[in-house]
Amino acid sequence: NQDSQFISRTIIEWYNHHKRDLPWRETKDPYRIWISEIILQQTRVVQGYDYYIRFVDTFPDIIQLADADEDQVLKLWQGLGYYSRARNLHTAAKQVRDNFKGSFPRTYEDILSLKGVGEYTAAAIGSFAFELPYAVVDGNVFRVLSRLFAIDTPIDTSTGKKLFTELANELLDTKQPGLYNQSIMDFGALQCVPQSPDCPNCPLSDKCMAYAQGKVSSYPVKQGK
Ligand code: ADE
Repeated sequence: NQDSQFISRTIIEWYNHHKRDLPWRETKDPYRIWISEIILQQTRVVQGYDYYIRFVDTFPDIIQLADADEDQVLKLWQGLGYYSRARNLHTAAKQVRDNFKGSFPRTYEDILSLKGVGEYTAAAIGSFAFELPYAVVDGNVFRVLSRLFAIDTPIDTSTGKKLFTELANELLDTKQPGLYNQSIMDFGALQCVPQSPDCPNCPLSDKCMAYAQGKVSSYPVKQGK
C-alpha cells in the first residue's frame, strides 16, 4: 500500500546518502556475501572487516575453503570467537562441493539447508546475491519496525518473530530486495539506533508512531527470561 511504499522508498533514499562503503557490498558473489554474513553474525563491522579480507584472500572460492584443513580455517578465525561458526563454514563449503556440484545454491530453501545458515542469513544471501524476495529480520529490523508501528508484541517470542517477519515482507521492495535489505539494516544501525536516536533529523519521524507517542525508548519490547 501507499504507506509501506513511502516507508521503503524513504529508507532506500536515506541509504543512498548515508550508506557505509563495505567490501562485501561491492560483490554479487554469494560465497563472499555468505562469508561476510557469518562473520558479522556475532561480530561488529569494525572488528570483522580485517578478518573478512584475510579470509577471502586465503580462500578465494568455496572449493578452496572446502578442500582446506580445518586447522587452517580455525587459525584464520583466531580471535573472532564463536568457533562453531568457522567449523560450520567449513562443513557448508563441503556440502556445496559435494551436494551442489560446487556452485552456491540459488534458492532460499537450498541456501537454508547449509550448515550454520538460518533464516536471517538465507534472506541476506538470497537477496544480496540473487535478488530473491526475502526480507531480512535482524535486531536492526526489529527496532525500526517496532518503533514505526509502536508494536508491543515482544520480539523474543514466536508470535513476535512471525509478526515482524510478515510486516518486514510487506515493506520489502520486491523489485530491489537486496538494496532494500541493505538499506533497512544500515538505517537501523546508523539512524534508528538503540540509545538516543536523533529523531528530529529522521526522514520517517512523521510516520513513526513511537515518536508521536514519545515512547521511542520503550521499543522494541522484550519479554525476557
Ligand atoms: N551486519 C550484518 N550484515 C551486514 C551487512 N551486509 N552490512 C553491514 N553490516 C552487516
